[in-house]
Order: sequence, then structure tokens, then C-alpha cells
Amino acid sequence: MKKFIITGGAGFIGSHVVRRFVKNYPDYQIINLDKLTYAGNLANLKDIENAPNYKFIKGDIVDAVFIDELFATEQPDAVIHLAAESHVDRSIVSPLDFVMTNIVGTVNLLNAARYHWKGEYDSHRFYHVSTDEVYGTLGEHGMFTEETAYDPHSPYSASKAGSDHFVRAYQDTYGMNTVISNCSNNYGSYHFPEKLIPLAIHNITQNKPVPVYGKGENVRDWLWVEDHARAIDVIFHSAAPGTTYNIGGHNEWKNIDLINLLCSILDKKLGRAEGESAKLITYVTDRAGHDLRYAIDAARLKNELGWTPSITFEEGLEKTVDWYLANEEWLNDVTSGHYQQYYEDQYSNR
Ligand code: NAD
Ligand code: TYD
Repeated sequence: MKKFIITGGAGFIGSHVVRRFVKNYPDYQIINLDKLTYAGNLANLKDIENAPNYKFIKGDIVDAVFIDELFATEQPDAVIHLAAESHVDRSIVSPLDFVMTNIVGTVNLLNAARYHWKGEYDSHRFYHVSTDEVYGTLGEHGMFTEETAYDPHSPYSASKAGSDHFVRAYQDTYGMNTVISNCSNNYGSYHFPEKLIPLAIHNITQNKPVPVYGKGENVRDWLWVEDHARAIDVIFHSAAPGTTYNIGGHNEWKNIDLINLLCSILDKKLGRAEGESAKLITYVTDRAGHDLRYAIDAARLKNELGWTPSITFEEGLEKTVDWYLANEEWLNDVTSGHYQQYYEDQYSNR
């Protein structure tokens, strides 16, 4: 029996990783460690909450004493670390929250692993989930490879870059067994509607303006979240210690083209006239320091570990839109309360 701590398991990607591991590996014991910030929601895991190999523990990775005690009591064999503050716009408003969770929280976990796994590093693995945003921005051509120099521009990406450096430092300094993956933008079910795709779906269905930053010409490389979870599974089980893998969908979209596509999908699904939803598109002030383009070269992951995306963007987007239309209650729950205040603050002065 192997025991895993998966951090951030109540969030968007973490919930898909937890679900995958709980369902696919009945002989693994999965502990979901999550603070349940605004982005963490146990409703994301309703279908597996009673599984015999699953346990939820509420806790903050910034609390070093708590993390140390957790390692002492649970004695995990592995950590898959996803807990983070993850939204660029929030990082512009409150950078220190990102330093605390993304850097200090990661170092707390690394310290606990360093201490509790001492002498047994080979049989214990620390898997750090990171983002392609650490590489900065691309011009019109080229892609990020694992060798691209770090050049983060937002407080979010700077804090994720810092956490990646600490993970590599613990590998090199203490000989710990670490792995890092850097993934492009994810989309899919349980995505908090502060991020572009769920926000646009939500606003279109509610007949509310769809905010497009700047001219809408920024490019993101979108990957279906379940393909990300599968890549994490493959990398966790097969990567050599100290390695890094980029994960991406070879699926670049200009924001405005993506929003137009969503509008036309929703016109059909909601029985609106073609072009009706696109009238909601509203250009707003650009994000400060807005990275122009992200694109991932995932050749290493394909060539060494055989991973490729399992579905096309058209299929994934259709599934995603259908999921949001069928899960209005989930959306209403997460968009009530604090989120309404955030939305008000974020968009009222643009
Ligand atoms: P999310 O914001 O949806 O979820 C983050 C989770 O972490 C939440 O459940 C939250 O409650 C928890 N959390 C936050 N602070 C915590 C703390 N101090 N202690 C314990 N738990 C805490 O994020 P996501 O989009 O699912 O991203 C997960 C990871 O994947 C992050 O590390 C992010 O940097 C990375 N990533 C995200 C994307 C993307 O497109 N969303 C792409 C690449 C990498
Ligand atoms: P987002 O989903 O926040 O992801 P990230 O900034 O991590 O890539 O944003 C995706 C893109 O969409 C990014 O270029 C910013 C843009 N965007 C908008 O145009 N309008 C919005 O309301 C949001 C949230 C994002």
C-alpha cells in the first residue's frame, strides 16, 4: 500500500488528479490536503468522497508545524503538489498571498519531506506541478522547451518560478527524488469561473458582457484537464529523478477566436440566432504585464513516456460546455458570496 499526499486536491486540476488516482489505483491511499480557499471546493469530489482509499484533510501548507506533524502521523510515500494561488489577476492585486502559498508553502512541504524521508529518498517522490508561465512570453514564433530560460512576468509566474527553483535545489543539494512538470492552460469541468473559459461560458449563458482584455490577440495553448491528470500519472510513475517535462496540447488559440467559438457553440446549444452571443463581447482594459503568447513543445513527454492528448479541442470544448450547462447548481454555488465581490472589484473599473 502506497500513501500519497495530494495538495490542492479540492481545486480544479487537483480534483481531477485525486479522482484519477483514487479510481485507478485502489491499492494507493490518497490524502487530499487542501486549505479550501475560495478556489477549493469539496463538491468537486462528491463522486469519490466515500471511497475507502480516499481521505480529506483540511490544512494550510504555509503552516510549517502542521505540515511537519502531518508527515509524522501519515508517513506518506509520495507528494503530488498542486496547492497554489493560481490566478494571475489576483496575483497583481495581492502578490504576497502568492509568495506565501506558492513559495513558502512549497518550501514547507520540501522541508518536511527532507526530514521525514531522510535515508529513503530513492523510495519517496516529490512531484511538483507547475506552469508554462515560468518561461515568460513568446513572440509570434517558437515554443517553450524544457531548456527555455525562466523569465516570469507576473507575480503568479514569479512565485511559481521560485517554487520550481526550490524543488530543483532540494534535488541537487539533498539528493531528494523530485520531478517537475510545466503545463499549458487547462480547461474542463470544475474550473473556477474567474478563468477565461468558464467565465466566458458563464457570462454568455447569463447574457452578461464577456470581458476581453486588450485586443484579444494574446495566445494560449489549451489542454483538456483530464489529459493533464493523465500526464501527471504517467510522469509520476515513469520519470527519472530530477527530470522536468513540459505538458501541452499543441492547441494555440487567440483569445478572441476562442471566445467567438464559444459564442457560436452556445448560440446552437441555447437556441439563439447565430451571432447573438457574440454581441456580448466587450473589450476592456488590458491586464498589466500581459504575456502575449504561450506555446508548449511537449516532444520530450511524447518521445520518452509516450503521452499525447487523448481528445481534440473541439471534443473537449463541447464536453466542457455541456458540463457547465448541466451543472448550473455548481456554478451558482461557486459564484455566490466572496466571488461576487471579487468580480465586482475586478471588472467594475476596467
Ligand atoms: P486552483 O486555484 O483551482 O486550486 C488550487 C487549490 O489549492 C485550491 O483547492 C485551494 O483551496 C488550494 N490551496 C490554495 N492555497 C492553499 C494553501 N495555502 N494550503 C493548502 N491548500 C491551498 O488551481 P488549479 O488551476 O487547479 O492549479 C493547480 C496547480 O496547477 C497549481 O499549482 C497551478 O500553478 C498549476 N497549473 C495550473 C494550470 C491551469 O491552467 N489552471 C496550468 C498549469 C499549471
Ligand atoms: P486566464 O484564464 O486568466 O489564464 P492565464 O492568464 O493564466 O493564461 O486567462 C487566459 C487569457 O484570457 C489571458 O490572455 C487573459 C485573457 N482573459 C480575458 O481576456 N478576459 C478575462 O476576463 C480573463 C479572466 C482572461
